Amino acid sequence: MLAMNKRKILGTTVIVIAATVIISSCKDKRSTGWEYAPNMYEHIAPDPDQKNDNFKDGKTAQVPPAGTTPVGFIRFDYPNTKDGYELAGTEYKDTIANTPQNFAQGQMLFEHFCSPCHGMSGQGDGLVVAHGFPAPPSYSKGQSSRGGAMKDLTDGKIYHTITYGVNAMGSYASQLDPQERMKVILYVHHLQTL
Ligand code: HEC
Repeated sequence: MLAMNKRKILGTTVIVIAATVIISSCKDKRSTGWEYAPNMYEHIAPDPDQKNDNFKDGKTAQVPPAGTTPVGFIRFDYPNTKDGYELAGTEYKDTIANTPQNFAQGQMLFEHFCSPCHGMSGQGDGLVVAHGFPAPPSYSKGQSSRGGAMKDLTDGKIYHTITYGVNAMGSYASQLDPQERMKVILYVHHLQTL
């Protein structure tokens, strides 16, 4: 008898709660109902895609002023052309110290990303070359397809190549950030002397 009553009370409670939820959510068709911590999405700061009367063009997202460099961003303003390559070759200088630690990290990155084609000692005899991929020229003894000896490639020419790739070699810009590219270059310079 008591068990029966308990079940009735429980059933009625569930029905009452469900009805309250349904009725309260039907009040206003545009209402999202109860919001938990609404100031998380209805915040004071305007969203980038919102109207904004503080600016002349009425938009919140503003284009940064010309020449702006984000904090920590390393510029490399040379286009992916032969001229861009030559200009980078004479103007650009890496800004990283050749410490044993940077050199060791450069070696590790080279062995992961470059040695499959260029070979562990940069002779152009990597594993994929053994399987028929066109062999890159040796860093120490080869000739660059863009003119000059590979051993004379400067920071800028190597940085340009890592950033954009050249012919059969793809870009490594998405795998190596600017600091990592500079570390790899330290190691490529070492391979140029072998
Ligand atoms: C998929 C194979 C492959 C990988 C991986 C690869 N390269 Fe190359 N690389 C080549 C080939 C092939 C060439 C020769 C391209 C040409 O000149 O036609 C080349 C050329 C170069 C040159 C000479 C560019 C010039 O100016 O002549 C440099 C420097 C170089 N690679 C650096 C690197 C570095 C550093 C990495 C690693 C981040 C790397 N490569 C990864 C295949 C590769």
